[in-house]
Amino acid sequence: MAYRWTNDLTSTDITPKSVYLNRRQILAGTVGLGAIGLAGKAQANDLDPNTLEEITSYNNFYEFGTGKEDPARNAHQLVTSPWSITIDGLVDNPGEYALADLLDGLSIEDRIYRFRCVEAWSMVIPWNGVELADILNKAGVQSNAKYVAFETVVQPENMIGVQRRVLDFPYVEGLRLDEAMHPLTIMATGIYGEPIANQNGAPIRLVVPWKYGFKSIKSIVRITLTEDEPPTSWNKANAREYGFYSNVNPTVDHPRWSQATERRIGGGLFAPRIDTLMFNGYEDEVASLYEGQDLSVDI
Ligand code: MTE
Repeated sequence: MAYRWTNDLTSTDITPKSVYLNRRQILAGTVGLGAIGLAGKAQANDLDPNTLEEITSYNNFYEFGTGKEDPARNAHQLVTSPWSITIDGLVDNPGEYALADLLDGLSIEDRIYRFRCVEAWSMVIPWNGVELADILNKAGVQSNAKYVAFETVVQPENMIGVQRRVLDFPYVEGLRLDEAMHPLTIMATGIYGEPIANQNGAPIRLVVPWKYGFKSIKSIVRITLTEDEPPTSWNKANAREYGFYSNVNPTVDHPRWSQATERRIGGGLFAPRIDTLMFNGYEDEVASLYEGQDLSVDI
């Protein structure tokens, strides 16, 4: 990788909560409209972080139920210590790594990213994490590896969604190797400087900010380097609606709804929808990965 991506904001730059809440009310049109001339203007798709409360109370984590409030209610049952990740497949140093050993010597960075769910809601989340490339380099990726497969823990006794078989568990995801090695791709261990909450995928989860949220698999226990494209949970559940790439793309609609706009969580009941950005706003950084691909076919 020729460059190391640096964030334009760190958590120390985050606007105090009261200020950005007020700013959001202004953008949502609930205070001071006429006076400051914002009437009728669409809300920008900017990087105002959501509150920790919002980030930890509106979730998708089907192992703990399909409702948005279910993970916050049920994920305290997830056992996150001790935790290890098995790294296998086409690597020089396969094995089961204790999480602390895997993170040892790596720098935990602040990354404030847009997070866009395929269901057309979004947040801005101030993650703390390491670049996935640093972890993969520790394991030593072999030259014939082309993809990276990920797997979430299964603790049937603690996971009501697993007991009810709402999806085919374990939840699995995958990236092409160049996507996995991209400096924007991180393994998150925290949010707002706190250990990541169970409902957000403790103790470590993937974050790929230019892809729909379901690619960002939670509570990872296995990473496998492969030559062939690995199966992914939502593609297995409904291949017509969910492809392997799942790049955020406002010009390619979901079969059942538009992807042109999104609802920013926390914006308030009357907040205008905001425009969805190509590659979720990371086009400059990642568009070159897909040169020569037809993104209306490779969904
Ligand atoms: N990972 C696992 N293991 N199980 C899941 O159900 N849901 C995905 C993704 N990762 C999911 C998962 C979906 S659909 C989204 S939008 C994001 O997690 C939600 O992340 P958040 O709850 O931290 O916002």
